[in-house]
Amino acid sequence: MPRSSNPLAIPDPGFYLRPIMRYTPLSAATYREHRARFNQAMDKGGLAVFHSNDIMPTSADGSMPFHQAADLFYLSGIDQEETVLLLFPGAHDPRDREILFVRETSPAIAIWEGAKLTKAQATELSGIANVQWTSSYDDVIKRLMPQADALYLNSNEHLRQSNEVQTREERKNAELRARYPLHAVKRSAPTMHRIRSRKTTEEVAQIRNAVNITAKALRKVLAYMKPGVMEYEVEAEITHEFIRHGSRGHAYTPIIASGRNACVLHYITNDAPCKDGDVVLMDFGCEYGGYASDLTRSIPVNGKFTPRQRDVYNAVLHVQKEATKLLRPGTFLADYHKQVGGIMEEQLIKLGLLDKKEVAAQDPDRPLYKKYFMHGTSHFLGLDVHDVGLWTEPITEGMVFTVEPGIYILEENLGIRIENNIVVTKDGQDDLFKDIPREVEEIEELMAQGKHVKV
Ligand code: GLY
Ligand code: MN
Ligand code: MN
Repeated sequence: MPRSSNPLAIPDPGFYLRPIMRYTPLSAATYREHRARFNQAMDKGGLAVFHSNDIMPTSADGSMPFHQAADLFYLSGIDQEETVLLLFPGAHDPRDREILFVRETSPAIAIWEGAKLTKAQATELSGIANVQWTSSYDDVIKRLMPQADALYLNSNEHLRQSNEVQTREERKNAELRARYPLHAVKRSAPTMHRIRSRKTTEEVAQIRNAVNITAKALRKVLAYMKPGVMEYEVEAEITHEFIRHGSRGHAYTPIIASGRNACVLHYITNDAPCKDGDVVLMDFGCEYGGYASDLTRSIPVNGKFTPRQRDVYNAVLHVQKEATKLLRPGTFLADYHKQVGGIMEEQLIKLGLLDKKEVAAQDPDRPLYKKYFMHGTSHFLGLDVHDVGLWTEPITEGMVFTVEPGIYILEENLGIRIENNIVVTKDGQDDLFKDIPREVEEIEELMAQGKHVKV
């Protein structure tokens, strides 16, 4: 390391300026396309502001790993804290039509935290020519607000959002509204939900990358599973496989739930032994380049399903296959979920879990199948595992969904869910996990072979 008379000077700028990315990012052209989609939906004179997330504190001087705000990432590809994006397509000066603000680095930051993006790197990643330091954001806003007719502010309008902590975006939005109380304010979220739900080609490819790593982890686990293995040991095998393939880890907290634990839908303690004779439900998916995958497989701990486990498994598999066929352009998700409920009902009657006559007389608003299948069948998948999307409009080509029916029978210590990820195509769907085993025979065979095969 070259010596410097100034101890705070960057000793070797080449080292600190090295772009560090463990994943291959989407192209700048894709981010341009994403911004064009947003701009098109904005009213004339609109100025949109998007913020990154905060680095969340834990306690003492600890912090959580940084997790970028999905909307900011979707529009820019910038995975760094203190980033702001302005979109102002009607700005008088073409240089003001899109401006990206990134955190300015310093010798001290370089030494303690490592490289931050240079302006040139931020341009290369995002395709945005005008990159400035975040410290100049306030001055730029002051200059541009008089030109703007309306402010487009973003917020979390996810159907199930529940967050007691104020985000950086909410904080900055409040500041802006207080400073410019006479500007009309419009919501960016409906447009974000619309454009993010219809994936661009490169986004699907990135989800495929995530899916492929998740599939490798599944194959590893099929060989690894045996009676006595702890659920967290399975989790560790999966984590290892994810990280060594360039993922930063799990897209959500994994569920490794053996026996009765599988009946706890959000079981994440993963601290019980996998017992001989039990089925273990494993719901895991890696993130890659910010995109999520979301797989569930339920496998026999000892490598062989009992006849009853096999029947329940095949019932779930039947529902999954039938449900998948229904996810087509033009379908409404509410209708789809109702139809899947009917298919599940038939299977539960066959399994002796529901009575046909009672089902015929049930309150349609409180169908009996919910006793054994209490969650939805599908959700949007993308940058967020439960991605944003349009729940009240027809499904269109390019949407990505999970299909994940399950049957949970507490009195039998058995919970089975099978989950795949599908892309809706012009006339049907493409199952991203189609090469991953899900038939009973395939799973049993792979588990038997796996004991001898190095994965
Ligand atoms: N892993 C969360 C879900 O399947 O929706
Ligand atoms: Mn899942
Ligand atoms: Mn899911």
